[in-house]
Amino acid sequence: MNILARSACAKIILLGEHAVVYGKPSIAVPFSTLRTFATIAASPVGSGFSITAVDLDNQLTVVDQQSQTVEDPLAVASWKMFELLGISPPDANISLHSNIPIASGMGSGAALTTALLRAILHIADRTLPNEKLNEIVYEIEKIHHGTPSGIDNTVIVYEKPVYFVRGLEPERLKVAHPFSLVIADTGVSASTKVAVSDVRKLYDNNRLVTQQLIDSIGELVLEGRQAIEGNHFVELGAIMNRNHELLKELTVSAPMLDKLVECARQAGALGAKLTGGGRGGNMICLVTPDVIGSVKSSLLANGAYRVYDTIVQ
Ligand code: MEV
Repeated sequence: MNILARSACAKIILLGEHAVVYGKPSIAVPFSTLRTFATIAASPVGSGFSITAVDLDNQLTVVDQQSQTVEDPLAVASWKMFELLGISPPDANISLHSNIPIASGMGSGAALTTALLRAILHIADRTLPNEKLNEIVYEIEKIHHGTPSGIDNTVIVYEKPVYFVRGLEPERLKVAHPFSLVIADTGVSASTKVAVSDVRKLYDNNRLVTQQLIDSIGELVLEGRQAIEGNHFVELGAIMNRNHELLKELTVSAPMLDKLVECARQAGALGAKLTGGGRGGNMICLVTPDVIGSVKSSLLANGAYRVYDTIVQ
């Protein structure tokens, strides 16, 4: 019998991506309607533990003794959880299915790991504080992304809006008044790892200018937090616009992202920017409820691959 055991959400970075890697604050929110689901199927005794990643071409990961030494993120995550719980791999298959677009800046990798680990906890009939779960997901993020700040796994594991500074306890962001976002997927896949390492090269080759850009993004995030907590959405929109310009200077935008950002502003969004690693993936815009439909239509007419809307609260 199959049990739909556990799931994990996608995430959206509102402000501060990339600079967060350098110790600046960042604000991110869960995107709960896009999720990764883990389904457990019990297997015959002695058949072992395996994972089927449906959206990665049904990739089958057999988690046996040999997989302890390879760097397969799903196998490593499973072993870390088995060790922590003090159990042997159970006889089961966990099937992971996701409607979060891959390589799009929405945290699909962290959601996959989180759903998998929650399913293992379900099989073992155990619970784990979010803080501990987050530590394991972060370890796996390092395999995916090299030097991640930890914001993706944190917002996905806690599934709450967060104000995040690398190395500090995440703070729950207080949203004074719910607000709407429209999200548009460029349809262009992009590697966060490559974008993060290109920003690192920029930083190493031109430290003064790059540090200024990073500092300016950090200041915008502080202002953005005040705007969200104080219900000042026109200001928040302007802050998002400025953040996008700074990300462009960090070289992580792309023509399609710039086009959709411009189109959203023209269609009445209060502000718009790329979200996540950039170079492709998704852009977000802050909208008042009356323009959600027209902004979405305009983004689609201008080449967006898909559009979504969500309320942040
Ligand atoms: C990726 O979602 C966010 C980045 O800031 C990288 C990170 O924080 O690890 C680009």
